[in-house]
Amino acid sequence: MQEIYMCGPDVTEYEEKIVLDALRNCWYGKQAYYYVELFEKEFAEYHRRQYALMTPNCTSAIHLLLSGLGIKEGDEVIVPDCTWIGTAAPVVYQRAIPVFADIDEYDWCIRCDDVISKITSKTKAVIAVDLYGNMPNFDSLADICNKNNLFLIEDAAEALGSKYNNKPAGKFGIGSTFSFHRTKTITTGEGGMLLLDDEKLYQRCKFLRDHGRSPGSYFSTEVTFKYMPSNLAAALGYAQFKRLDELVNKKRWIWQSFKNNFSDMTDLYFNPEPENVFNGVWDTAMVFGYSHNLTKAYVLESLNKANMPSRPFFYPLSMLPAFGGNVVRGQQNCPVAYSVSERGINLPCSLILTKDQIDFMSEVLRKIILRQNV
Ligand SMILES: Cc1ncc(COP(=O)(O)O)c(C=O)c1O
Repeated sequence: MQEIYMCGPDVTEYEEKIVLDALRNCWYGKQAYYYVELFEKEFAEYHRRQYALMTPNCTSAIHLLLSGLGIKEGDEVIVPDCTWIGTAAPVVYQRAIPVFADIDEYDWCIRCDDVISKITSKTKAVIAVDLYGNMPNFDSLADICNKNNLFLIEDAAEALGSKYNNKPAGKFGIGSTFSFHRTKTITTGEGGMLLLDDEKLYQRCKFLRDHGRSPGSYFSTEVTFKYMPSNLAAALGYAQFKRLDELVNKKRWIWQSFKNNFSDMTDLYFNPEPENVFNGVWDTAMVFGYSHNLTKAYVLESLNKANMPSRPFFYPLSMLPAFGGNVVRGQQNCPVAYSVSERGINLPCSLILTKDQIDFMSEVLRKIILRQNV
């Protein structure tokens, strides 16, 4: 059997054709940013947003937005404890303070009641994450943010193709962000996108993206960032985006295939899909219910010994040395994040996975769960 890869894109002759066009024809005059502008325009339209800015990655898109909103030293920004570090690192880049809120046991997203309990006079924003493609209760979050005069930001890095009440992931809050990392549903190698509706904020973020200058001018009025996108990367992203439905279908097929293979076992949980959500399932994750008495460390090690790829469920950020690593306090503060994370793993999500590979891996995993010899 072909090696089972943890993650990676599906790239076809169509992408080759578009990237080759960019490589051959898009260096001069108006062509220099042809694919960047086309990708931004169509990406914004698809997400029912007014504006899009492509960035070198999602982390820089979040940073650009926080900076554009004027988040500064000493401000507090509430983020879910369980997410990738890229959600919270840009808060620290601004010398602001990430405040960790707990996640929900069943939807794995930030808990509204805990957001409320973490609001102080210093809170300026909430970054809600569409974790593993599922989406939090955006109606309540919008309400909480409106009442408390906070900016709501949607980190949709893992949710391209997801929907909440039939609205696309990326349509929520004052701004939303996406990742086109090699491991994501569509890729540009490294890349990201910031979506906005407010024109002033868009102009501000655009200015901040390119050394605080107006296009074509060498006259900078502020020291800002250099978060400009590359036309070649945008060409790849544009071509991948044209295949979005097909790629999301494949992701959902991987998720459904794993679920089917374990449908006879109880107390196992996969990426949630509540009634009002359509989950784009960037990566299939699996959480072991308490009855299995399994830890992610044990399962990951057993899979590794059997030469099967897997990754840990995201760690609670509050336990990472990067954020002080106070596990005791973190656990008191966000008990669900610690509990779910400790019992969860990421299964392979490569877009070239086959049914045979999923079935083979499922058999190995089943034996590990049942503590049989692999
Ligand atoms: C929830 C979340 N936020 C942010 C990021 C950062 O994305 P990037 O690697 O493009 O900076 C990721 C990427 O994995 C993510 O999953």
